[in-house]
Amino acid sequence: MCGIFGIVAKEGNIAQKLLIIARRLQYRGYDSLGLATYLNGKIDLRKDMGTVESVVESLKLDKMKGNIGIGQLRWSTFGRPSTLNAQPHFDCDKDMVGAHNGNIVSFYQSKENLEKYGHTIISQNDGEICVHAVEEHYDTEKDMVKGIIGGIKEMEGSFAFVCFHKDTPEKIYAVKMGSSLVVGIGEDEHYVASDLPSILPLTNKYVPLNDGEIIELTADSYRIFSAKDGKEIVREPRVTDLSAEDAVKGEYDYFLTKEIHEQVEATEQLAFGLESDILDDLVDKLAEAEMAFLVGCGSSLNACNVGSYYLNNLAGVMSIPVIGGRFFEEFKNYKPSKNTVILCVSQSGETKDIINTINFAKPEGYHILGMINVPGSTVERMSEAYAYIGAGIERSVPATKTYTNQVVLFLILAARIGYKKGIISDKEFVSLKEEIHNLPKLVEKTIKDCNQKAKQLAMELSEIDAMSLLGYGVTHGVALEGALKIREINYISAEAMYSSEFKHGPLSIVEDGYPVIYVVAPKDKYYVTSHLSEVECRDGRPIVIGEHIKGLDKHVKPGDYFEIPKSSQLISPILAVIPLQLLALYMSIERGIDPDYPRNLSKTLTVD
Ligand code: BG6
Repeated sequence: MCGIFGIVAKEGNIAQKLLIIARRLQYRGYDSLGLATYLNGKIDLRKDMGTVESVVESLKLDKMKGNIGIGQLRWSTFGRPSTLNAQPHFDCDKDMVGAHNGNIVSFYQSKENLEKYGHTIISQNDGEICVHAVEEHYDTEKDMVKGIIGGIKEMEGSFAFVCFHKDTPEKIYAVKMGSSLVVGIGEDEHYVASDLPSILPLTNKYVPLNDGEIIELTADSYRIFSAKDGKEIVREPRVTDLSAEDAVKGEYDYFLTKEIHEQVEATEQLAFGLESDILDDLVDKLAEAEMAFLVGCGSSLNACNVGSYYLNNLAGVMSIPVIGGRFFEEFKNYKPSKNTVILCVSQSGETKDIINTINFAKPEGYHILGMINVPGSTVERMSEAYAYIGAGIERSVPATKTYTNQVVLFLILAARIGYKKGIISDKEFVSLKEEIHNLPKLVEKTIKDCNQKAKQLAMELSEIDAMSLLGYGVTHGVALEGALKIREINYISAEAMYSSEFKHGPLSIVEDGYPVIYVVAPKDKYYVTSHLSEVECRDGRPIVIGEHIKGLDKHVKPGDYFEIPKSSQLISPILAVIPLQLLALYMSIERGIDPDYPRNLSKTLTVD
């Protein structure tokens, strides 16, 4: 997802205020930033790839002049991150500038049509399509509302678009067609932005917009028009009592709760990666690899455990997950072949253990690849090829949506590599793509279905000081992640392991009522039933997390089967982490711990 915004003021320069909004929209994407302002007949457009602060510094965005301006923060889906693909974009005559958020799924067809009408489209970014589509109709109508109504007809997709034209330099126009957009009412100035929290430092007066509505903003007025027939719509402004900081949490008590719920939108964003060219480099380099070390720490390491299952089983890429801090010690005398890769998985892209790995491995001839969340991070800059997980900014120290998006990206990479190598048939690839596109709905359903039960179980487990979590095959990494979540924010011993290992020693901990959580994928009933019975017959308390598996429910007490929606062997582990995230959250709240900022921890450890 991206973030768009604009300000029109009676007088003065609005660049600094545009950047206030931009900095609060960073969670929506930050691989590029651009601003366009207008002064004395000239549009000043400055944009580049990079984080907000790096682009502000390099292009002096805060020094831009003019009392009207728009901007966009980008998280790339169509067109890899580049200056050319950054937004806003000019129209052909450079007398209009615009930016969008969302996806123009008719990108290729619309581009072809507009080029037939004589437009020159210079980027691979779908936002530029919006500008030329509006230009096409404005040039005949000489009316921006009509231009936008006509332009919308040239495109298919879910988006929001903001623009202004030299002919009417006192007006900003925008349209909401599926992506979020809100109007802010200031003193002698008006705002438009992708969300309400981003404009709260400037005003608490706002006008909500609905899909299919166009707005025309001046410094002291706003008008709303139907995008269907141009009829004007009257809507009174509202006042929010949300503070700027609270608003970032929205209706949630904790960032952790918010980010668990944001997994719906975050996984939706990634599904576009299935077709997008921005994964091509990573797919090619992993497909050629003779050996892939998947290196990560914390939750990222747990994602590597699930990722290695996908790569080994779907893509024929020999993959081994390795602890970030262990790699350069363990393999210091290993001589890599010419096609040995290290995929560095790090949401921050700054974890020192990972940077140490790269500093050791690069001179040894390893190919360094990156899977990151923060554009412009050190791991990105040290990688030969990389991909963003597109989870948006994660504020809570315990990882949730970044872990889930890492796992989903591993599945997308494995599917594309497996298909490219002919290991996965056309039919299997189509079916996997459908499952991945359908995943956000299942994530949403899992959160809804498991929320109450997680609260209930959290209360029952509020006094315990030890528990075990077991996974088998594809769910081993999920058990590791669930145990880490519980440990991080409950300060209790929650150990996780491969379920076949439990009987080789750790089983001795089991006594009456000792909780052992089994994370089960649909096809692993046989082994898990055996492993689960070893606990059941010693009066332990087996708790199962997984879709309904006939007969397995006989081995647990009623209420100790956490059913998740039916999916598949590969999708089920992605859903299964959600009840564990919710359980860890509610246990933490029961214990009076702030789950966002647990003691002793830090979101990113840039120390050895
Ligand atoms: C730890 C965080 O410090 O670093 C974990 O507390 C995180 O939540 C781990 O998973 C790895 O961080 P990153 O940024 O490399 O994924």
